[in-house]
Amino acid sequence: MKNLPRESAHRLSTAENPLVVRRQDFAPNSVWSFRVPGYETLNRPLLRLIERERAAVPDTRECEGREMWQSQRSMDRDRPVRKVLEPIFRAARNIAEFLRWDIAGRASVCKVCWANIHPTGSYHTRHLHPASIHLSGVYYIKAPDNCGDIIFHDLPRFLGLWDAPETLESTGHNAFSLSVKPEPGLCVLFPGYLMHEVETNRSDGDRVGLAFNINFE
Ligand SMILES: [Fe+2]
Repeated sequence: MKNLPRESAHRLSTAENPLVVRRQDFAPNSVWSFRVPGYETLNRPLLRLIERERAAVPDTRECEGREMWQSQRSMDRDRPVRKVLEPIFRAARNIAEFLRWDIAGRASVCKVCWANIHPTGSYHTRHLHPASIHLSGVYYIKAPDNCGDIIFHDLPRFLGLWDAPETLESTGHNAFSLSVKPEPGLCVLFPGYLMHEVETNRSDGDRVGLAFNINFE
């Protein structure tokens, strides 16, 4: 039989009373993150581009956040963005390979790329990305300490569909959320069905980054 989920067996009992329980994992939530090589060099022109864009179009795009600025236009065609997307596309293809997606002959395409500036006190409320998107991502250009983590939520637990007991410790199987701390040059990739939000920026500086969606087509 093809496509069986990975199995794992646990011996849960004593020698007198052996009991082996089979566990089959399927559809886990995964979030991938990595530091883009050479990010310092890539970030300087990116930051200039975004500051120019905000000066030219100071009104934010309509988005579900407070006191943040988001570019009105998708910036995926701008050269500094295309440069940073190169390693991100490579990572996205590695993820596709890990997930055994059949993407042979398909190109990695950035469907949309917004620039975001979150000043002190701003946040981005929880949201999902469209179901038609294969992978979503964020990339951080400026990320001072305490500028707000991105938090991912397990949707069934978030919706209260499983009222499990308190846990002794957090593990990959019982956690209901995952926080990732922004750092300059860090890229985070995730499936867009994962509900996510960005905490309030409690630093003195702006958090600046890109948010984008990638498809293989
Ligand atoms: Fe998002």
